[in-house]
This record gives sequence, structure tokens and C-alpha cells, in this order.
Amino acid sequence: RKNIVVAIDGYSSCGKSTLAKALAKKLGFIYIDSGAMYRAITLYFLRNNVDLENHDAIADALKHIELNFHSKDYESHITLNGEEVSDEIRLMPVSEAVSPVSAIKEVRKEMVKQQQRMGKSKNIVMDGRDIGTAVFPDAQVKFFMTADPKIRAERRYNEMVAKGDTSITLEEVFENIAHRDYADTTRAESPLTRAEDAIILDNTDITEEEQLAFALDKVQPFL
Ligand code: C5P
Repeated sequence: RKNIVVAIDGYSSCGKSTLAKALAKKLGFIYIDSGAMYRAITLYFLRNNVDLENHDAIADALKHIELNFHSKDYESHITLNGEEVSDEIRLMPVSEAVSPVSAIKEVRKEMVKQQQRMGKSKNIVMDGRDIGTAVFPDAQVKFFMTADPKIRAERRYNEMVAKGDTSITLEEVFENIAHRDYADTTRAESPLTRAEDAIILDNTDITEEEQLAFALDKVQPFL
């Protein structure tokens, strides 16, 4: 039985999950959204006022968190201790707090362990920031996605508006993306960086169909 791993890393709001879902659907692979895990942990920390400087409190909190994915037609749905939190983790309070939480060593260690377990002896597509570098350094296919930050902010903003979230301006979305890019690439623990063997995919000027075709072509030899 094959165990093919497609790792998709890149900046915030580059369309990683759009590509990952489309690929998984086309290939019949399991899709795992690693960002949702960091977001769900962040939601727990916010709700329980976990002090990010207190290592004992963090270790204790991690012991009380159980994350589970359940998939509905390749949309990623995640539960935090049994509660469906997929929508709440996309809102601004979590988006603003997630980068500092994901920079914590203990948090990363636990998430990487769980992600490696989820990918064991399965065909998966996983997206995130450190999938090709830290979680699955031996992944058969790695993509590193990027796009013009203004385009990324516009796409994300339109997505939020379409979902009925009007509490936020385009400017704020742009600021959040820029801020997370900076935090994610400069942190000490497995910063966002392109794995040497990752294929660069800049989707500023290409359509979703074009990027899917491009990616499928790269995975094809391993099927
Ligand atoms: O992918 P998404 O934008 O939902 O991820 C939210 C945040 O989670 C990122 O900005 C980053 O700080 C963190 N993250 C990470 N490693 C991953 C996936 C996400 O540090 N593999």
C-alpha cells in the first residue's frame, strides 16, 4: 500500500487550502488542514486565559485539549474537545492570536506529533507552514505557495464578506496577513521557509483550475 504525502506550505491566505482540498478530492487522498489545529489550540488558550509565558500552564492546557477532524466533502471540520469550532477559529480574535501561540515550542512539538500520526500509512495532502520542512521532510511532493500580498488580502476579504463577516475592513485583513507572514517567517521554532526540494507555485496570476492542473502534473509520477 502506498503512502504518498503531498506537503503544501506557504504564506498566509495564498490559497493553500483551496489547492489542498482540490488535490485531495481529485486524488482520493485525505486532506489535513494543520493551520486549523493551531487555530483550535489558540481558541482554547484564549477562552481559558492561558498565559503564553507560563510553560507549566501551557503543558497542562495541551493535556486537556483533544482535536479531531471530521470531513464533509473535503471541507475541513475540526472539533475542540468535541465542540465544532470550524467557523469560530476563522474569526479575527483567533487570527490575531494564532501566530504567537504557534511559535511556542511545546505547542509545535505536540502538533507535529499528532500530524505525523495522522499521515502514517495513508495518502494525504497536508497544508501549513512547516509540513515539507518539519512534519514530513520525506514527502514525495512539496509545494511552496506564494502570491502578491494585496491579491491575497483581497481574496481573503471577499471570502469573509461572502460568509457574512462584515466586521472587518480590507485594510485590517491586509495588516493581519502581513503581520502573520512576518511572525511566521521570523520565529525561532521551525519558521516558515521553503524546503529545498519544494516546487514554487505563485498563483497571483493563475486560476484555480490552472494551479490544480499544474500540481496534479507534479503528483502524477508518484501515483
Ligand atoms: O493556515 P492558517 O492560516 O490557518 O494558519 C494559521 C496560523 O497557524 C499561521 O499563521 C501560523 O502561525 C500557524 N501555523 C503554523 N504551522 C502550520 C500551520 C499553521 O505555525 N503547519
